[in-house]
Amino acid sequence: QGGYAVGGKSFTAVAINCAAKAGEWIRTKLGKHSSLDIKQSPHDLVTEVDKGSESLIRKLIATHFPQHSFLGEEGVEPGPEASAQALADASSAEYLWIVDPIDGTTNFVHGFPFFCVSIALAYRGEVIVGVVYDPIKDELFVAEKGKGAYVHGKRMEVSREESLRESLIATGLPADHLYALPVNLKGIAAVAPQTRNLRIAGSAALHMAYVAAGRLSGFWEIGLNSWDLAAGALLIQESGGRVTDTKGEPYHLGVRNVAASNGIIHDGLVRALAEADAAG
Ligand code: IPD
Ligand code: CA
Ligand code: CA
Ligand code: CA
Repeated sequence: QGGYAVGGKSFTAVAINCAAKAGEWIRTKLGKHSSLDIKQSPHDLVTEVDKGSESLIRKLIATHFPQHSFLGEEGVEPGPEASAQALADASSAEYLWIVDPIDGTTNFVHGFPFFCVSIALAYRGEVIVGVVYDPIKDELFVAEKGKGAYVHGKRMEVSREESLRESLIATGLPADHLYALPVNLKGIAAVAPQTRNLRIAGSAALHMAYVAAGRLSGFWEIGLNSWDLAAGALLIQESGGRVTDTKGEPYHLGVRNVAASNGIIHDGLVRALAEADAAG
């Protein structure tokens, strides 16, 4: 069994410290980033703040846990093949930190205040700690496997909507306009009319945290990566919700097409995506 601490150092405390330090720094950089590069397309951006946040987190983790492995978005070449390969290469690690240094870079660049730092720790491929930090609202979401999930120390529970009709659901518009975006546009056309309403706010990890906190009934997206989902998935599971792929198969680190919910509406969401042939 993987513990939550080594040599008296709590994994969760280190994860929180990293997220808080990176988040504070990102907040000071809002509206002040100096470099803006496009990755694979004009829909896929990176700034020096993404890279700086990742390097701050990587260094801090290495000082505490030098034996642990690290997988961060900005250390991987863009594109689904490279990220799948990076995850496969890292998967033999006993302890693996999975980090999205800014989830919601497009929002960060435009000054739209909805982005976060996402940090997860997996033990032998299973996420045991998940932390999502929103530096704008100063909201810290923390989960430990088997021990519940908390927002600023208060236990979280998923919402209780019983049907899509009374649900507020979020999704994303993927940067990959070749494959993932067209699939998801079909999903949106199918799901939106069945729900109370839909939100597309531009940070998968923060949407997942909001499902955990009961602020959203569910979320789905096509073409995500392990660093978008690992922390948020544990937050939702530990808040009583359900996380699968868009076909309803159990969540694992390799899942790219995700469906997440309060559990009650889950089958309805997966069915709506399947009916629209939008399950990826
Ligand atoms: C993106 C965000 C966005 C989602 C994209 C992700 P990034 O992550 O989560 O909401 O629609 O698919 O790639 O690039 O801002 O870390
Ligand atoms: Ca990115
Ligand atoms: Ca991301
Ligand atoms: Ca990112």
